[in-house]
Amino acid sequence: MALLEVTDLTRAFGGVIANNSISFTIEKGEIVGLIGPNGAGKTTLFNCIVGYYRPQQGTVRFKGKDITGYKPFQTNREGIARTFQIMSIRGDLTVLENVMVGAYCRTSDREVATNEAMHILSLLELKKNARSSLTELPIAAQKRVGLAMALATKPELLMLDEVAAGLTPKETEEMVSLLRKVYKLKDLTLFITEHVMEVVMPISQRVIVLDGGEKIAEGRPQDIANDTRVIQAYLGEKYAKSR
Ligand SMILES: Nc1ncnc2c1ncn2[C@@H]1O[C@H](COP(=O)(O)OP(=O)(O)OP(=O)(O)O)[C@@H](O)[C@H]1O
Ligand SMILES: [Mg+2]
Repeated sequence: MALLEVTDLTRAFGGVIANNSISFTIEKGEIVGLIGPNGAGKTTLFNCIVGYYRPQQGTVRFKGKDITGYKPFQTNREGIARTFQIMSIRGDLTVLENVMVGAYCRTSDREVATNEAMHILSLLELKKNARSSLTELPIAAQKRVGLAMALATKPELLMLDEVAAGLTPKETEEMVSLLRKVYKLKDLTLFITEHVMEVVMPISQRVIVLDGGEKIAEGRPQDIANDTRVIQAYLGEKYAKSR
């Protein structure tokens, strides 16, 4: 049984069909990339899976269970967490408190939540920032806090929406090695959408391509990088030739 199974998922906003009958599966332990041009429907697909949007058609199954229409707190409890392309920052809370919000998904005990949050913060090299306000931190550290908040809910499936956006090449490299570390340590399955090909192509075992709300390709990164339709829709000749 697949960990995640999306079947025939459709979501429109007025006349814009953001996701048009999308189907795919993700196996436990896989790292799957999701790529495509701006407005292709990547974030909408994430939002439909975790329950920010209700699909108008289709189903989302997680570990065999139909979770279509579940609210975000419910999909979170089932074992799905996501990070946000645009983070909603609680500037009035400290870094530790923000991460504890995630930990409260699994416990109502303050001490347990604090310990779990501190464990995640040290894993992501954020322990020294625990008492800072999130808004005081540079963007790279804020992105790591977003990752920490998601990890604190103890997910099986972690979905990352552009974790490298706005980072320098060095910060991007650090983010990739952190992702590899938590993937191994926490026995995760990753679903990653990203415009930075240097992040998504090397880390993904399989890549799904969206364009204009349609799934136009799916396959191994090296095959996707040489797929004529994907090159025309998104990658351009530059990335394909540099391989
Ligand atoms: N809440 C919304 N209301 C109206 N239209 C929306 C909404 N969310 C997304 N859309 C539209 O759906 C389409 C897909 O948007 P989406 O944000 O999913 O794309 P994306 O692939 O994540 O793009 P990007 O790479 O820029 O993040 C776009 O045309 C967008 O304008
Ligand atoms: Mg997006």
